[in-house]
Amino acid sequence: MSRIVYVNGEYLPEEEALVSIFDRGFLFADGVYEVTSVLDGKLVDFDGHAKRLERSLGELEMDQPLTRDDLLEIHRELVKRNNVVEGMVYLQITRGAADRDFAFPEGATPTVVLFTQEAPLIEKPAAKTGLKVVSIPDLRWGRRDIKTVQLLYPSMGKMAAKKAGADDAWMVQDEFVTEGTSNNAWIVVGNAIVTRHLGTEILHGITRAAVLRMAREAQMTVEERPFSLAEAKAADEAFITSASAFVTPVVEIDGQPVGRGVPGPVAQRLREIYIDEMRAAAV
Ligand code: PDD
Repeated sequence: MSRIVYVNGEYLPEEEALVSIFDRGFLFADGVYEVTSVLDGKLVDFDGHAKRLERSLGELEMDQPLTRDDLLEIHRELVKRNNVVEGMVYLQITRGAADRDFAFPEGATPTVVLFTQEAPLIEKPAAKTGLKVVSIPDLRWGRRDIKTVQLLYPSMGKMAAKKAGADDAWMVQDEFVTEGTSNNAWIVVGNAIVTRHLGTEILHGITRAAVLRMAREAQMTVEERPFSLAEAKAADEAFITSASAFVTPVVEIDGQPVGRGVPGPVAQRLREIYIDEMRAAAV
């Protein structure tokens, strides 16, 4: 049985779902997306993702074609139709199809596409072994706070990591770590948990926000500030956060072990807290 996807108001088998070759997502990467994880057949932090989507659309002067409730309904319907127990829902909204022109078209109808992907999220080898990352210069555009579909540089970063025998890349600008290719970057220094402050240089991770809140609630010391690559390499622990990785330890940067080179207790504890709370709150 083929996967059922959503495209512009219809639920269709994936082979029948079509988007125009004039779609501005295809021609200009003129679109935004969200990835919401699914645990026990329920959506994790749906409201966080819905709010960020609204912000991304607003920053690009794109209309919000669906209400939060419509979106929730579509997410749930796809999870149900595809029997997804663990995995994610991908959502993409583009400015729509129009003759190729750099200027935004007047009155184009946004294209809305959603699909599910099954994947183990809890029992992941990386959660136990930790990830190896390499550093690369951050060569992305200056509005990384908007979750656009221009993901070529992050893809290249992931390939650079693979070629170096690592799992992922951390991007560095003026010696400071911005974020991972598809996740936010964190370090633990002494008793402080450090992650870069919000701004246009990084994506405002939904998982990042939840983990910050949970760390504070657990009376941990949290610092939102820039940290350099050198500080990360000398840190006691490192980890990443994202909708699909939750909290995953980083054990090596540029071939150098972080701390003792094994997943650290802070990252492991935060992963447990995050999964427990999010599981209980999923909708
Ligand atoms: N990536 N930074 C970047 C550049 C990202 O692409 C992502 C998410 C994050 C973490 O954001 P969140 O916690 O809201 O998932 C940070 C998604 C998962 C992806 O592209 O698949």
